[in-house]
Amino acid sequence: MELEQLIAKGRFNEIYKSGNLAVKVFNEGYAKADVLNEAYVAARIEEIGLNIPKVKEVREINGKLAMTMDMIEGKTLLQMMEEDPENVEQYVDMMVDIQLDMHSKRCPNLPKLKDKLMDRINNSGLDATKKYELLTILDGAPKHKKVCHGDFTPQNIIISDGVPYIIDWNHATQGNASADVARSYLWLCLYNAEIADLYLDKFCEKSQTAKRYVQQWLPVVAAARLSKHVPGEEDLLQRWIDIVQYQ
Ligand SMILES: Nc1ncnc2c1ncn2[C@@H]1O[C@H](COP(=O)(O)OP(=O)(O)O)[C@@H](O)[C@H]1O
Ligand SMILES: [Mg+2]
Repeated sequence: MELEQLIAKGRFNEIYKSGNLAVKVFNEGYAKADVLNEAYVAARIEEIGLNIPKVKEVREINGKLAMTMDMIEGKTLLQMMEEDPENVEQYVDMMVDIQLDMHSKRCPNLPKLKDKLMDRINNSGLDATKKYELLTILDGAPKHKKVCHGDFTPQNIIISDGVPYIIDWNHATQGNASADVARSYLWLCLYNAEIADLYLDKFCEKSQTAKRYVQQWLPVVAAARLSKHVPGEEDLLQRWIDIVQYQ
């Protein structure tokens, strides 16, 4: 298989175009189980009728694991926002509509969001008291079964001829949509605080959700994110986690 053109390079992988396929080549040392999980989750999501690039196979290329899928020709929603900032509101609207449609779906084979968050909080490196507080909030939260992407950001949505495709399914679970929205909000806060607030306002308005339902999830989702140790994120995450004291 010829890797014709590098499309994107992230912390853990490189994405290449190869004919009408996109090939996600994972860095050496990336866990095999995580690659297979991403392919498995995408296959489950395909079954429930969400618009995503179909996974074709997982293989080894030059000693590295790679996942091949349909190549979606188009632009990510992030690219569109950056190239056309005057219309950012329209793009945020699209993001919310796509996310609401996803939350309307069910996929009983996915892992539970609560289990994943619990695991991550336990591995966050926070002290025992803080972990206990956060796990108590998590335990008391309403149990839902909505499809949650776990990394629903404008970078993980590709628009092709006006049709949206959601990509990057490694973190998908079933659970409470407000937690998924809190995660998107956190990502947007790190990107652009104004767009983040616009997003939250729009989501709450369209879904008739009280803002505090999403805000309640912020410390929990921030603590879970802390376990990823992404450079540059820690200060903001720590601030969100500390909010828990004032609730
Ligand atoms: N199937 C695809 N078709 C076209 N572009 C893709 C496809 N999959 C990924 N990309 C591009 O590669 C980028 C990174 O892919 P993604 O799966 O989100 O990796 P990461 O896990 O590193 O975020 C995307 O933002 C998008 O620009
Ligand atoms: Mg991505």
